[in-house]
Amino acid sequence: MGKRFPFPGLPTGWYTVALSTELKPGGILTRRYFDQELVVYRTASGKVRISSAFCPHMGAHLGRIGQVEGEVLRCRFHGFQYDDTGRCVATSYGGPPPPRARLRFWEVREQNGLVMTWYDAEGRAPFWEVPALESEGWNRLRWKRYTIATHPQETTENSVDFGHFTQIHGFTDGSITKPIKTRGELLTTSYRAYRGLPSPKLTWIKLPVDYDVTVRGLGYSQVDVDIPTIRLGFRLFVLPVPIDDENIHLVIAGSTHRRMGPLAPLARRIAHKIVCSEVDEDLDVWTYKTYVDTPALAKGDGPVAEYRRYVRQFYPPDPEAAPGPRRVDAA
Ligand code: FES
Ligand SMILES: [Fe+2]
Repeated sequence: MGKRFPFPGLPTGWYTVALSTELKPGGILTRRYFDQELVVYRTASGKVRISSAFCPHMGAHLGRIGQVEGEVLRCRFHGFQYDDTGRCVATSYGGPPPPRARLRFWEVREQNGLVMTWYDAEGRAPFWEVPALESEGWNRLRWKRYTIATHPQETTENSVDFGHFTQIHGFTDGSITKPIKTRGELLTTSYRAYRGLPSPKLTWIKLPVDYDVTVRGLGYSQVDVDIPTIRLGFRLFVLPVPIDDENIHLVIAGSTHRRMGPLAPLARRIAHKIVCSEVDEDLDVWTYKTYVDTPALAKGDGPVAEYRRYVRQFYPPDPEAAPGPRRVDAA
């Protein structure tokens, strides 16, 4: 059997490796992402660092044998200490540390309650950023992490796959309110659908729901969900990250604004639960589907073809493709 997803490598972009709240000062998390073993840790002063999990001295796993001491990460195997630039600053032997003992750090951005890293198969430095959002008045992210046998391109496609909203999620009367637009790594679109709340099965109360979708690469989508009738606004993040080329973690995280008054935390809980129940509905589709490179699209489908063109920029150029995939311009 061939590869399930015939893409030339994992897509370039920003990916969420942890929620900020998962990492207290002194904390270390182990992650297996991009087919590599990583650690994510926070120093006493609050800096987050993401590095290879293996100590460059003799390979101990820093998620197991490492500990954060103040601003350094110390490997307990032979006591080598790494500062927040990755330089080895001390060993247990007292002599000068070997210059080659250098911990390789990954790019890190902590914003919007997320700890993100940059992945690029060719090792290029980041050429776009995820903007920091207004945080004033927004409550803490409520989140859930799924492990799914799929690919970030597939889960992100879901938000432009207009056709499945009625079939899988039970929405009715959907319409695209802002057609898909792409510019570099950015894709935006908006739509309105009617659905029963809290469950689509409750058809006696159907409310319009507005979805404002902003995609910035295949690891980061923001969906502003608005239910004007009950003045509910939910800022939702959909955050896939590849474990390897056939499996992902998918974090669904969202918050509400205090302008909703004392009900904001409850609204966040309910909105998050509804979104997660929609993800549950998608799970069997994602887990068992095959990837169709040239789908038999019909009138009524969403802007899947535009989406497929947009995603090509995130992969290394395929020499056999004509014309060649477009590369993202350096900002
Ligand atoms: S392997 Fe980490 S200090 Fe030796
Ligand atoms: Fe869906």
